[in-house]
Amino acid sequence: MARPATSDAAPDPRPALQIAMIGHAFMGRAHANAYRQANHFFDLPRRLVPAVLVGRDAARAAAAARQLGFLRSTTDLDAVLADPAIDVVDVATPNDSHHRITMAALRRQKHVLCEKPLALSTEQALEMAALARKQRVRVAVWHNYRRAPAVALAARILGRGDLGEVRQVRAVYLQDWLRDGAAPASWRTSRRNCGSGAHGDLNAHLIDLVRALTGLEFDAVCGVQQTFTRQRPDGQGGSSKVDVDDAFCFLARFRGGAIGTFEASRVATGRKNHNCIEISGSKGALRWNLERLNELELFTADDGADVQGFRTILCMDPGHPYAADWWPDGHTIGYEHTFVHHVVDFVRALHDGTPFRPDFADGVAVQKVLDAALQSIGKGGWIKVGR
Ligand SMILES: NC(=O)c1ccc[n+]([C@@H]2O[C@H](COP(=O)([O-])OP(=O)(O)OC[C@H]3O[C@@H](n4cnc5c(N)ncnc54)[C@H](O)[C@@H]3O)[C@@H](O)[C@H]2O)c1
Repeated sequence: MARPATSDAAPDPRPALQIAMIGHAFMGRAHANAYRQANHFFDLPRRLVPAVLVGRDAARAAAAARQLGFLRSTTDLDAVLADPAIDVVDVATPNDSHHRITMAALRRQKHVLCEKPLALSTEQALEMAALARKQRVRVAVWHNYRRAPAVALAARILGRGDLGEVRQVRAVYLQDWLRDGAAPASWRTSRRNCGSGAHGDLNAHLIDLVRALTGLEFDAVCGVQQTFTRQRPDGQGGSSKVDVDDAFCFLARFRGGAIGTFEASRVATGRKNHNCIEISGSKGALRWNLERLNELELFTADDGADVQGFRTILCMDPGHPYAADWWPDGHTIGYEHTFVHHVVDFVRALHDGTPFRPDFADGVAVQKVLDAALQSIGKGGWIKVGR
């Protein structure tokens, strides 16, 4: 009888890709999880090494590094950027720091994964995109919803032209965590920190999704916004001014004639994370809703008249995007997996020298729409989206 054998795991021959992550709260946790799961589930050309976590408070950063699986932590961003061993800088901090941190990382020739919205203004976003091009590094914006399997399937269906000419899109991203006037102020309620409210936070995702799915480019927009609570508790017994929108809706005209409606809200009572998009074409339609992440609703006019109707596809079979690398047929995945797919595709694109989207050019395009919609509020009418 053969004797039981034990052997040490062979050393991993793949070159390391060392990651520095700035910020370690909500998105920091989502990104850190993505680096670990990407290594674990996907066959990647590079071994991802969550190397250093950068925070503003040494003790909190050290605790976060331990929990999130980073090798070390620091409060010294400049030293991290000066370290030639760091390949990728991940910007997971509030919006007002994206431009400063990204520009500093690009000057050091790092690849950058930056959270959305890319910047506070089109001018900032253009600078970031120009420097990334000049430095010949790879960059990405964390519009992770593109990489839900059902969304990637929707992109495949639309890309094949199965739905005919796209005529209308209706996109809503609804939350209600600011419904209550007693909900505290934060960087998300201060224009200086975030640029705008639900608009930059949630419409940014919708704009990216529509561009990614349909290939349509915005021609002009017309918006309306409201702030229902203008002072919020500051957490220290006082109150803070709210100078961003609680809800922001806009109409859109696309080049080529399609039209669309967009609605973002943090006061949509009862809605928690209702990110939903419906696209109507001349030969069919589809609808996706983050709250039913793995399902795609599809209507095709080719079906016989007596069986026509929206059908629901559970996008968890091996033929569906990303599904084969997870679990057997029908074993569903969740929100965090969209970030894993983003990392996987980025690392493969980096290795192969192939394009990765959304890149900073996409971030600029989103920012132009955001800014045009904000301008339309000030001017009270339609505003052309800059080309
Ligand atoms: N892709 C998505 O679906 C998604 C979801 C939520 C948030 N976001 C974006 O991610 C970014 C971060 O949002 P969050 O929800 O993680 O915020 P958060 O408040 O939960 O965390 C922010 C982190 O950044 C740190 N930080 C703040 N200012 C900093 C600075 N100047 N330098 C270094 N660190 C700093 C904080 O200490 C904290 O660790 C925002 O741009 C937000 O719009 C994206």
